[in-house]
Amino acid sequence: MDKFIIEGGRKLRGKVRVSGAKNAALPIMAASLLTDGKVTLRNVPALRDIATISEILRTLGQRVERTAGTTLEIETVNNAKFEAPYELVSQMRASICTLGPLVAKRGHARVSMPGGCVIGVRPIDLHLKGLRALGADITIKHGYLEARAKRLKGAEIYLGGPYGSSVLGTANVMMAAVLAEGETVIENAACEPEVQDLAHFLNRCGARIEGIGRPILVIRGVDRLHGTSYRVIPDRIEAGTFIIAGAITRSRITVTNVKTRHIAAFLDKMKEIGVEFVRKGSSVEVIPPKRPKAVDLITLPYPGYPTDLQAQIMAYLSVAKGLSLVTEKIYPDRFMHVAELNRMGANIRKEGSSAIVHGVDRLSGAPVMASDLRASAALVLAGLAAEGTTEIGRVYHIDRGYENIEKKLGAMGAKITRVTEKYPA
Ligand code: EPU
Repeated sequence: MDKFIIEGGRKLRGKVRVSGAKNAALPIMAASLLTDGKVTLRNVPALRDIATISEILRTLGQRVERTAGTTLEIETVNNAKFEAPYELVSQMRASICTLGPLVAKRGHARVSMPGGCVIGVRPIDLHLKGLRALGADITIKHGYLEARAKRLKGAEIYLGGPYGSSVLGTANVMMAAVLAEGETVIENAACEPEVQDLAHFLNRCGARIEGIGRPILVIRGVDRLHGTSYRVIPDRIEAGTFIIAGAITRSRITVTNVKTRHIAAFLDKMKEIGVEFVRKGSSVEVIPPKRPKAVDLITLPYPGYPTDLQAQIMAYLSVAKGLSLVTEKIYPDRFMHVAELNRMGANIRKEGSSAIVHGVDRLSGAPVMASDLRASAALVLAGLAAEGTTEIGRVYHIDRGYENIEKKLGAMGAKITRVTEKYPA
């Protein structure tokens, strides 16, 4: 298992380019199951999660090939397959978004039940509610979801749960509805840019989705979808992570390939903290304050503050002047980074689904453990700012969602070494 060794306290300089969005690419790749003809996707990052969904699609009879740097080609070669096995699904919850396309296009899906993970229980009731409303017959046996349907039929579906809308739930039901007979209305649809990107992709393949980016989606079913060529949006969470990297090291860096509209809530919070920005086209120059101001924040569905940037901003708030209150309204247990940040000298107390962050003057390097993707990113950020050396174990979590993070930050002057740990035979 690899670990990172970070020498903290160094200034960053220069530019860093944001890669394609993992969470947009994953469902779009799954949507290739719906199409007849070749799908060419550009701006697809080389990440472990992308490799996992590629493997799942191959077991489902798709040819998936990286033809050049960030370009993937996907095409159906065997449409008789319908099973996504446990060994692969258990590596990544996003595999659940093969369920809708399989049942819509092939009439039969057998997908391993995804488990929970460190950020919470993560139920899939909304996915099942939506697909059942479209007429899929779904059973759960021996850890597998089995879904069957002759042809799905459009329906009116309310997709809200106790924490609001569901990103992949909306994606799954929308993907199934594009090939259903008649009209589907999804109310309380997720509005996240990644869901919008999937809808734009589907429309490019011949789907008829209206209301993209709004909580009521109207989908008129079509008989078939064709292939297309499509460019995936830039990763807003990676963009936010780099912006915090500049701010926490008090360095004026420029982050390029940013869609600022996708991170409006985040930029607004950063301004409240005292960070200034100079925008030029899709580039954002970060002008950090000497010391960040404490703020309160609540994670919410888009366009609210994203949960996927909660851990990273907490690393920054841990050195702010004053007391910040960070409340999770998406995943009430997503605070695995708190104990690790405290090992680095932060003063954070978890209280229910909130964390009270008492800003300290500085963090100090320490051995810490990555627990999930965004928590790992928070530890990298803390390590960049800390005095001394930080050793982060289990960085495979970060490889799931950040492309070459140590190289990208290294090119701006950070000192991050990846060490591959070998175990005795
Ligand atoms: N929920 C339900 N029932 C469901 C589905 C979700 O109650 O059927 C609840 C969840 O437990 C959670 C809330 O609804 O409390 C929102 O979950 P959502 O379904 O929106 O999450 P997701 O679609 O499984 C995606 C991202 C996550 C991101 C969330 C929230 C992908 C591959 N994953 O997950 O990204 O945190 O939306 O924005 O798109 C990450 O990239 O690190 C990551 C975890």
